[in-house]
Amino acid sequence: MSTEPTNPHSGPSVAESLVDAGQPLVGRRAFFSKLSIGLSAVIGGLVGLPVVGFLFAPLLRNSRQIWQSVGPIGNFNVGETVLATFEDPSPLPWAGVTARSAAWVRRESQQNFVAFAVNCTHLGCPVRWLQSANLFMCPCHGGVFDSAGFPAAGPPPHPLFRYRTRVRRGQVELLVGTLPVAVEQ
Ligand code: FES
Repeated sequence: MSTEPTNPHSGPSVAESLVDAGQPLVGRRAFFSKLSIGLSAVIGGLVGLPVVGFLFAPLLRNSRQIWQSVGPIGNFNVGETVLATFEDPSPLPWAGVTARSAAWVRRESQQNFVAFAVNCTHLGCPVRWLQSANLFMCPCHGGVFDSAGFPAAGPPPHPLFRYRTRVRRGQVELLVGTLPVAVEQ
C-alpha cells in the first residue's frame, strides 16, 4: 500500500487535458491570438475612423469658387452697406442652416459693389457695420475696421477679406468659395 500523500492538485493540467481530449493546444492558442488581434483592429478602426474623418474632411470638400447671387440690384441703394446672405457652394451634408453665409455688401455706384467677409480677421467673430460711425465693429475684443475694411483699432492684424463682385442679369453676385477670398485692397 502506498504511503505517499495524495495531492488534490496533482491531476493532469489543463493543457494535458486538452491534448488528451484531442484538442490541438497550439492551434487554439493561435486562433485566440488572431481573434484578439482582429478584434483589437476592429475596435481601433471604430474609434479611429471618426477622428480621421474629422481631420481630413476639409481636404475632401470641394474648394471651387462660384458666383452666388445675393439679390437683385434693386435691393441695394447707392452708399449703403447691408448684410446679404448666400449659400455655401459646397456645404457639408450635415451643415443645415450653417451652410448659409453672409457678407457686408456696399453699393458704391450704379454698377460698382464691394463686399466684405463678415468674419473678423482676429479670431473670426462676425463684425457689424455701424452706419453712423462709418466703421465695422467686432464685438469680441473691440476690433475696429474703417469703411474700406482696414484695421483701425484693436487686435485685428489684417483687413477684412473681400469678395469679388459683379452684376449679371440684374443680380448682384459674389465669387464665393469655402473660405472668403482676399483680393487686392
Ligand atoms: S475676434 Fe474680432 S477683435 Fe477678436
